[in-house]
Amino acid sequence: MPIPLGVAIPAAVAGLAYLNAKTAFWYDLSLARGFLPAAIKNSWREHYDRANNFYKLEDRAKTKSSANRIFLMYEDRTWTYAQSYDMALRYGNWLQKKYGVKKGDIVAMDMMNSDHFVLLTFGLWSIGAKPAYINYNLTGKPLTHSVKAAGTTLMLVEPDVADKVDDDIRSELKDLRIELLTPELMTEIERTEPIRPPDALREGQLARDMAILIYTSGTTGLPKAAVVAWGKLTMAGTIAAGFLNTKPSDIFYTCMPIYHSSATIMGYSAILEAGATFAIGRKFSTKTYWNEARKYNATMVQYVGETCRYLLAAPPQLDPVTGENLDKKHRVRVAFGNGLRPDVWEKFRDRFGIDTVSEFYGATEGFFATWNSTRNPYAAGAIGRNGWLFALVMKTRLAVIDVDPDTDLPVRHPKTGLGRNARRGAVGELMFVMPDDSADRFQGYYGNKKATESKIVRDILRKGDRWFRTGDLVSWDGEGRMYFHDRIGDTYRWKSENVATTEVAQAMGAHPAVVEANVYGVQLPHHDGRAGCAALALQPDVYSSSAPTDKQQQLMKGLADHARNSLPKYAVPLFLRVVSDMAAQTTGTNKQQKHGLRVQGVDPDKVGGDELWWLRDGAYVRFGQKEWNELNGGRVKL
Ligand SMILES: *[C@@H]1O[C@H](CO)[C@@H](O)[C@H](O)[C@H]1NC(C)=O
Ligand SMILES: *[C@@H]1O[C@H](CO)[C@@H](O)[C@H](O)[C@H]1NC(C)=O
Ligand SMILES: *[C@@H]1O[C@H](CO)[C@@H](O)[C@H](O)[C@H]1NC(C)=O
Repeated sequence: MPIPLGVAIPAAVAGLAYLNAKTAFWYDLSLARGFLPAAIKNSWREHYDRANNFYKLEDRAKTKSSANRIFLMYEDRTWTYAQSYDMALRYGNWLQKKYGVKKGDIVAMDMMNSDHFVLLTFGLWSIGAKPAYINYNLTGKPLTHSVKAAGTTLMLVEPDVADKVDDDIRSELKDLRIELLTPELMTEIERTEPIRPPDALREGQLARDMAILIYTSGTTGLPKAAVVAWGKLTMAGTIAAGFLNTKPSDIFYTCMPIYHSSATIMGYSAILEAGATFAIGRKFSTKTYWNEARKYNATMVQYVGETCRYLLAAPPQLDPVTGENLDKKHRVRVAFGNGLRPDVWEKFRDRFGIDTVSEFYGATEGFFATWNSTRNPYAAGAIGRNGWLFALVMKTRLAVIDVDPDTDLPVRHPKTGLGRNARRGAVGELMFVMPDDSADRFQGYYGNKKATESKIVRDILRKGDRWFRTGDLVSWDGEGRMYFHDRIGDTYRWKSENVATTEVAQAMGAHPAVVEANVYGVQLPHHDGRAGCAALALQPDVYSSSAPTDKQQQLMKGLADHARNSLPKYAVPLFLRVVSDMAAQTTGTNKQQKHGLRVQGVDPDKVGGDELWWLRDGAYVRFGQKEWNELNGGRVKL
């Protein structure tokens, strides 16, 4: 049954949220360029039983103008659309013959980034099977949990990460067949006949049916398997391609992990929709990022989380022969991603000479996204905006709801039990109304009804309404611009004031000695609420633990002055933790994690080799065992 367009289009609009920049008409247009075709494509693909992404690749491979265009680049290999299609068929036949993979089966993939990651995915789709993308850095319980959650009987593992799948894992997953993709097997796959599997294997798929299982990195607890549906690949991919105005001649470079939704949904899926080229880096490193972008002639690059900050902190790369600074030597016109902080946004654009930075906001498991694209510093800090046209529609689709900072739940009226909108400009949780047909767009977590339900609240503005909780605290100003404040649960309370960790991190990050700041609240003995602690990665040339004490003290005094000048008193971090290895506190997509830091708190025994400092009489001074004991003894009041 095709979705009538009258329903599909407003529903697509509902997937987008923004702020109103009044006359940003071009912005409306660039959004329209993406989402109208997306809605139409989705309906069309369902109608003709072509929802499976395999057909998109097949179309490109069979169309004269695109067949010989390059789809994938990895190291020195390139694959045209026709070659990719051919290889996908070989994978499909091999999986059927060798392991008896059937329509509807889920196969776990534990692989690092490469061309074969994408080719194997299409191979699975060609025979009606689905991949579960396992984070290759997982070990132990999170790994076994992820594989079990997918209910799979086969896991394909790349030899480079095989050490993570040790004997304990194997004995824990006795019923699972684990196969290493050795060079011998790869040869076997390449030698398999590329016979086209019949349509029957792929038939009956609707836009809402599962295409991939992707795990949320879950900053706390075990990873959750989110269902990514065909419709989401089509919608988000088409919208991304339209919004970025991706041309077939574009080359999109990413080294963000493909197991994560950014490089999949906004990456190769969007590139397939545009018929362009997807260039793959093995993994993120500041040393290889620009070299690879140059080597592939990339016109677009992807970032996630703190990626741009790390690139900015790295020294410039110089031409080995001429000594020329290579920072601006590339063809990149767009940097695209999410998580870019206002304190690095413009610096990044300037240093690397990037014309457009496009930031999107969305969730793997959500059914919406917001976009924010800029060529100038206008509206810094906002997470998205739109023209008046979309704003009208959006007003009925999203709300900023008052939440109780102690329980993290919506504030409810004592009599009616209903929630309420936050005042204009005040901070609340961003929520999206779940349309009646929301099953089409919100698939939730695989086999985990409880986790799915926990994302939905009822009876907020009217009895019986249902809202999707984003978990993000935002405010909406008088002009309609929306600003991101914090994740719910990250914000902490100190001296009866709410402190948004992102705001403190941004202020600390603006100090020239600070490379990165990760801020969180720590519980202290004999104190209510949580005291602010900033974990800092400092420029190695200005801070070393062996530096003379007076130099260190000078820096610490400077940091305290800086914090006091840029933050309200209650938000000035009481503690600093100088971190030697910030990478240990980030996810595979360079997103900061706070959970571990928060649990370790400021107990000197728990912070590894990191140094602690605390604010005393206007300067940060050393905090060690003696000071910790005093706090515990109740002899200090902060
Ligand atoms: C993840 O695994 C890769 C490959 O084994 C390794 O190079 C990388 O350092 C790991 N990253 C983390 C965060 O453990
Ligand atoms: C990038 O462009 C240069 C110059 O046009 C060309 O020589 C080179 O082969 C291109 N690289 C790739 C990977 O296409
Ligand atoms: C988009 O968000 C970034 C980061 O928060 C900000 O710097 C930029 O100015 C915003 N652009 C628009 C148009 O809102």
